[in-house]
Amino acid sequence: MRMYDLIMKKRNGAALSAEEITYMTAEYTADKIPDYQMAAMMMAVFFQGMTKEETAALTKAMAESGDMLDLSGIDGIKADKHSTGGVGDKTSIALMPMAAACGLKIAKMSGRGLGHTGGTIDKLESFPGFSTGISTAHFMEQVNRIGISIMGQTLSIAPADKKLYALRDVTATVDNLSLIASSIMSKKLASGADVIVLDVKTGSGAFMKKEEDAFALAREMVMLGKSAGRKTIAVVTDMDQPLGRAVGNALEVREAIETLQGKGPEDFLTLCMTLGAQMLLAGGKAETEEQAEAMLRRVIDDGSALRKLAEFVEAQGGDPSAVYDTSLLPQASYVEEVCSDREGYLTGMVCDEVGICALMLGGGRETKESEIDLSVGLVLKKKVGDYVKKGDVLAAIYANDAGKLAAAASRFLKACSFGEEAPAAGRFIKGIVR
Ligand code: URA
Repeated sequence: MRMYDLIMKKRNGAALSAEEITYMTAEYTADKIPDYQMAAMMMAVFFQGMTKEETAALTKAMAESGDMLDLSGIDGIKADKHSTGGVGDKTSIALMPMAAACGLKIAKMSGRGLGHTGGTIDKLESFPGFSTGISTAHFMEQVNRIGISIMGQTLSIAPADKKLYALRDVTATVDNLSLIASSIMSKKLASGADVIVLDVKTGSGAFMKKEEDAFALAREMVMLGKSAGRKTIAVVTDMDQPLGRAVGNALEVREAIETLQGKGPEDFLTLCMTLGAQMLLAGGKAETEEQAEAMLRRVIDDGSALRKLAEFVEAQGGDPSAVYDTSLLPQASYVEEVCSDREGYLTGMVCDEVGICALMLGGGRETKESEIDLSVGLVLKKKVGDYVKKGDVLAAIYANDAGKLAAAASRFLKACSFGEEAPAAGRFIKGIVR
């Protein structure tokens, strides 16, 4: 088999066989196919698409390119959750302890942020000392002992995806349905959980801008998970404006903590309850959505979800006192309010632009090697649908560099649109794919 022939075949619109996909994935992982040929293949896939059979073959080949974790040594049903990526998406930090406090075993694999979207690992590193670079043995022991652990994607888990994702990221080939579905599901299948709950984002801050594309991605991933024998559910949710109010690593951790204290923003809490209910149902901890939601509400009200977060942070080397005193999280030197020079309803907020503002402040990575500033970001004071008067504060910007602050403030203002009429309220939870 020659990579040149496979590129030509895909470029001309034909489907690759499972054997060809397995060959190309294994050879690329072993550095026997150069980046430039794989980049050409990714671009051919981007334009020609992949059939369901090709997507399934790519998912399997990437999952099997490294270790397939065997979590059978952990008692009970193990659950994982994954978001396709968004702005202000701190869901795992609140949801995982909530689900674990309800008795579910949470064995989660997480990633770092890239581009305008954040990553759970970076956010969790806001807890001084916290590490996700733990061994598989540590991961399994911790899930067994305290019911929750999060591990970073090591080189031994789906290494093909790790290499391919980095290549796609710099060759404008990320936002393709088959490539996203196989990338996410290869990691989820390799990391061994029995239950996989997917949060598929749609809107201006998501990879899938259109709702119909998000549903297609959700269906594809559910199909991939189920055919591998995992209980897989996808919830399609809004990402047309940032989730909650905080955007930026430590600021988002603070908001997740406030949510576990019962003081979280409504949209964020709704998301945690919806995803959490699906996890508890699929994990056999509840029989109805109402029962599951009541359990989730209870662990917030009685403080056990917050205590589970502290236990989890400590087990992974972090300082748990920051859970009870958020002033111990990284703090920015400047906080400045951005005020509106317009009056009217806030009709829209270009979500990826808000993510880029946080990136400009230093809160995200421009390249894989960039160091990020955990303390910076934005906290929204108004959300889409709110009425705004001239001079009202739209957001507070947290920065360590006055120049970056001014640039981010002006970009943020351009991301907001106003109108005389209240925008039609869209559904936040768009639907559930089982
Ligand atoms: N997240 C992933 O893990 N992979 C993608 O391709 C896109 C989002």
